[in-house]
Amino acid sequence: MRRPVPTRSRRSWTTRSGPRSARPGGDAIDLIRRFSDRIGYVHIKQMDPAVLAQVRSEGLSFGEAVKRGVCVEPPAGVPDPAMVVRELAGLDAPLFVIVEQDLYPCEPGVPLPIATRTQHYLAQCGLGVPTERWQGRLASVLSGARVAAVADADVDRAAAVARSLPGTQALASGHEVIGSGAVDAVVVTSWGPTHEEYVLAAIEAGKPVFCEKPLAPAPDACLRIVEAEMAAGRRLVQVGFMRRYDRGYRALKRAVDDGVIGAPLLVHCAHRNPAVPETFTSDMPVTDAAVHEMDISRWLLGDEVAAVSVLAPRRTRHAAAHLQDPQLLLMETAAGVHIDVEVFVNCQYGYDIRCELVGETGTVSLANPAPVAVRGAGSAAEPVPADWRERFAGAYDTELQEWVNSVRAAQATGPSSWDGYAVAAVSEAALTALESGQRTVVVMKDRPPFYS
Ligand SMILES: NC(=O)c1ccc[n+]([C@@H]2O[C@H](COP(=O)([O-])OP(=O)(O)OC[C@H]3O[C@@H](n4cnc5c(N)ncnc54)[C@H](O)[C@@H]3O)[C@@H](O)[C@H]2O)c1
Repeated sequence: MRRPVPTRSRRSWTTRSGPRSARPGGDAIDLIRRFSDRIGYVHIKQMDPAVLAQVRSEGLSFGEAVKRGVCVEPPAGVPDPAMVVRELAGLDAPLFVIVEQDLYPCEPGVPLPIATRTQHYLAQCGLGVPTERWQGRLASVLSGARVAAVADADVDRAAAVARSLPGTQALASGHEVIGSGAVDAVVVTSWGPTHEEYVLAAIEAGKPVFCEKPLAPAPDACLRIVEAEMAAGRRLVQVGFMRRYDRGYRALKRAVDDGVIGAPLLVHCAHRNPAVPETFTSDMPVTDAAVHEMDISRWLLGDEVAAVSVLAPRRTRHAAAHLQDPQLLLMETAAGVHIDVEVFVNCQYGYDIRCELVGETGTVSLANPAPVAVRGAGSAAEPVPADWRERFAGAYDTELQEWVNSVRAAQATGPSSWDGYAVAAVSEAALTALESGQRTVVVMKDRPPFYS
């Protein structure tokens, strides 16, 4: 499921004549249900019903109503925020949510404690809980699984997620979750360097495990997982390379496999993010962004990457001083296909993912995923997704649903530990190439028959 999380949406034009009228006196839940496909932005305010009655009976101005305290701290007023959040959680879109309380006149020290309490309260309702991508969707969009237990190094965060999901326990550690008799399969979505210990523990417990990318940051750690899985004798691990579940990439793969473009010769990719925080360093365009192109190219071509070069073009003034942005990766596969990947993480205008394969007899490329095209004032325009959540929302759902199905069928599918290892090896070579400026050969073991 997609819980409402604070994320930018380009769909604001769709709200114009719809749920904007969801003000006190209207039925917010009814409006959300009726205009569900038109909601991209939500403004939550809580009103005191007694003051609202005065507004109506005395014809008060907005300023006078605020002075009398018409705006109150959640959950004191109407509509019920928990019900609103629950209803919004069922929508098929990431949402940008603003929470506001008008206070006038007001002492400077009053708003911050209210804002802090409000944030905690709404997090308990499931709004803006950071780990929502997995737990929430498992609970309400997908079928065949329920979230029995969660853990996080931040125990308050785990408790907030557990409270937002019926029948879910917050446990003290990831190892307790893995060991719990109530847990049949495990999702690991903690920070990358922590993945190895949890994935190994799940294999040891004989439980299928879905691990977000990276399987582990270093190839050696990935190999330990590969070896443990082979020793267990069956595939238990799936890695979160969700692009393989995107409709566009699946159509590309079909076209290549069906021979529509003949033998592939070149792949042109672009991976553009609107902006990244100051903490983003020059290795992260490789380890956080281009890893997706590394996996998807291997998958589309059925070929391994054998060497990588990284070019550092003129830097954008929108990047922090320590960040090389953009970067251009050139990957060469064992069969000789060349793949170029532009990674540009401060492109400003949107989240733009491109992929074109050039074959001996034709080309095939991803189409713009926008559901509509707008023509007016002498121009034609298609909106660009605001971020990765919006661009790959469908892929995340399909990925997790197919994983649940595979667990129930006891038949592993999807990206394997081997794929996690191969991408870590390419990523390591790319980091060496970035630092040295030299073409770098990927050091990789031969694929064992277990993963063929
Ligand atoms: N496939 C994709 O498109 C995609 C997108 C975003 C994130 N990711 C991956 O998902 C993972 C999480 O990313 P995020 O953006 O949700 O990060 P995040 O920082 O929002 O969340 C990570 C959580 O892990 C918890 N944590 C840290 N160490 C822990 C430990 N030892 N045990 C238990 N919990 C621990 C943190 O407290 C935090 O709540 C990363 O591996 C990231 O690369 C993948």
